[in-house]
Amino acid sequence: MKLFIDSADPKEIASLAATGLVDGVTTNPSLAAKSGQSLFDALRAICDVVKGSVSAEVTATETSRMIEEGRKLAKIADNITVKVPLTWDGLKACRTLSSEGLKVNVTLCFSPVQALLAAKAGATFISPFIGRLDDAGHDGMALIREIRHIYDNYGYSTAILAASIRHVTHVRDAALAGADVSTMPPAIFRQLVSHPLTDKGLAAFLEDWKKTGQSIL
Ligand code: E4P
Repeated sequence: MKLFIDSADPKEIASLAATGLVDGVTTNPSLAAKSGQSLFDALRAICDVVKGSVSAEVTATETSRMIEEGRKLAKIADNITVKVPLTWDGLKACRTLSSEGLKVNVTLCFSPVQALLAAKAGATFISPFIGRLDDAGHDGMALIREIRHIYDNYGYSTAILAASIRHVTHVRDAALAGADVSTMPPAIFRQLVSHPLTDKGLAAFLEDWKKTGQSIL
């Protein structure tokens, strides 16, 4: 499963990319607003450090403007994926942009049937929002499983990008459910490596090693 960072902060992304384990980035208008920078400057800086897919979202709501915005965003760098919302206008824009050879991420997916439409419209990625479904008292992970099932039934190649991830368990469960990608806030990415028994075990190994008085180098 690929690991993406859900952020529009180039500095934060660069520090995580240094791990060598960041496969891509997703941004959205709220994250762009939070970064406090010009959208185009931030996307350029992000694409400089991450060579995998970087999603940049359109803000128009009508098909022809979405297409125009998508084409403009795609010119920023070769690895830009144009993000469109899961509306009829967004699906039509997805169809056109995909047929032009651009990568498209259809976002704000909350049902399996919406995901089916996105695959039929030629989406490269579908973004089901797990956390927001959980917040509303639904089972976000069930949506990932259902989309996996439907896409496998018909051989759709649209990648399932588990979004709106709130904790490490979401990442584990998305991997178990067969999501192709999980996108997460920087803080969750940092937590992926942590386990108290790893820290405890390492401390004990180092303590015992110290007693030998040896050195490897
Ligand atoms: C995904 O592409 C979205 O940017 C994101 O995951 C939304 O997450 P949120 O529900 O935490 O805002």
